[in-house]
Amino acid sequence: MAESAELILDGKSISLPVIEGTEHEKAFDIGKLRDQTGYVTYDPGYKNTGATKSAITFLDGEEGILRYRGYPIEQLAEKASFLEVAYLLINGSLPTQTEFDAFRYEITQHSLVHEDIRKILDGFPSSAHPMGILASIVCSLTAFYPKSISPELNKDELNLNIVRLIAKLPTIAAWSYKNSVGHPYVYPRNDLDYTANFLYMMFSFPTEKYEVNPVVVSALNKLLILHADHEQNCSTSTVRLVGSANASLYGSVSAGINALWGPLHGGANQEVIEMLEAIEQDGGDTSKFINKAKDKNDSFRLMGFGHRVYKNFDPRAKIIKVAADEVLQALGMQDSPLLKIAQELEQAALTDQYFVERKLYPNVDFYSGIIYKALGIPTEMFTVMFAVGRLPGWIAQWKELRENKEPIGRPRQIYVGELERDYTAIGERA
Ligand code: CMC
Repeated sequence: MAESAELILDGKSISLPVIEGTEHEKAFDIGKLRDQTGYVTYDPGYKNTGATKSAITFLDGEEGILRYRGYPIEQLAEKASFLEVAYLLINGSLPTQTEFDAFRYEITQHSLVHEDIRKILDGFPSSAHPMGILASIVCSLTAFYPKSISPELNKDELNLNIVRLIAKLPTIAAWSYKNSVGHPYVYPRNDLDYTANFLYMMFSFPTEKYEVNPVVVSALNKLLILHADHEQNCSTSTVRLVGSANASLYGSVSAGINALWGPLHGGANQEVIEMLEAIEQDGGDTSKFINKAKDKNDSFRLMGFGHRVYKNFDPRAKIIKVAADEVLQALGMQDSPLLKIAQELEQAALTDQYFVERKLYPNVDFYSGIIYKALGIPTEMFTVMFAVGRLPGWIAQWKELRENKEPIGRPRQIYVGELERDYTAIGERA
């Protein structure tokens, strides 16, 4: 007999079907609850709400497990390329060599952006944050490819939009940086792989030859893979919610970029490095900042600590911590004062009752900023790097939502405002 739960309300029993995922996660199906009882569920921040059934990413926060399409993140980070992982997330299986070559070729054919995008970029003041530029330019792709806004695209048209976005995001990201520092835009090179090409567009100048450092490429490849998807996080849920209104891929991803920018989400990587620098400038006393984070009258939080779903450790942080050591070693920066402060902070927090009780551990953003900094990526670009990594996940989730013909997302609320009252003319108001 199928499992169900009984809800007793006013002496009446309502049966809630139980649904179970392939990894045996269980949920009560409350889809008909309001029709049956007049009640809705109340769950601010969706802490206990399964908003969809998804076959893309499995995450077990208690055990620290993260798998893309069944493959452990540790294996992918060690052995795969970022484009392979992008293909896996979007298409459901790892590509054969022929499939991969075709995918890679298609991407190289779309890495240029329309020349008019330069004019849009020129319109931004140099003070513009690259995340704002990224979100705006991604949304502007709807103007360059007007057909992309149709909800009726066939498979080939949809695939073309996907390929365009993966191909162009590094160019847009690198150009948003070049724009912010007033340097000339560098055009993509199709002979370089995805990650190397991005670094080339970021750091080369037309005036001199730029050699892409393989240590840097390999570290960045790993970081992008670790960020590629994370099931129903804030930005991905945003992409799905916007997409559920039949909004275009570019519009939905642009919304996701804005969500990711928030300091409680992807923006935390920039905040972490700024926090470490502030601690260094303050004399390096980590205990002072630990105490500030614990003080309920102080809004300061230890950035890069804590996670909504990981309550033992963040498996991505484990890999990134090792990678940070390796990269700094390889680049001869092992004595970085910021790394030392980060290690001290982590040690202090992991043994402090406040953090232990609340299960607050370093998350993916804690060490990623140290690597980005060592790689020469400017601080304001850290969250852009996260966005480039997260793109395949957003696309896969948007595509899944469309393929499953999911209904428009529209949560309910519990209204706590004024009861009905009559309008009074402006001169008669107290
Ligand atoms: N420093 C100090 N206290 C914290 C922190 C922190 N970083 N994170 C949570 N707490 C405390 C919080 O004050 C609360 O304490 P109390 O129970 O006494 O009120 C308790 O821990 C639970 O926190 P919460 O805010 O209810 O937890 P949440 O699941 O809603 O928030 C979080 C998760 C990631 C937003 C939060 O831990 C945080 O703000 N961390 C810092 C920002 C950060 O690093 N974000 C990146 C997340 S990983 C990348 C990504 O996927 O976005």
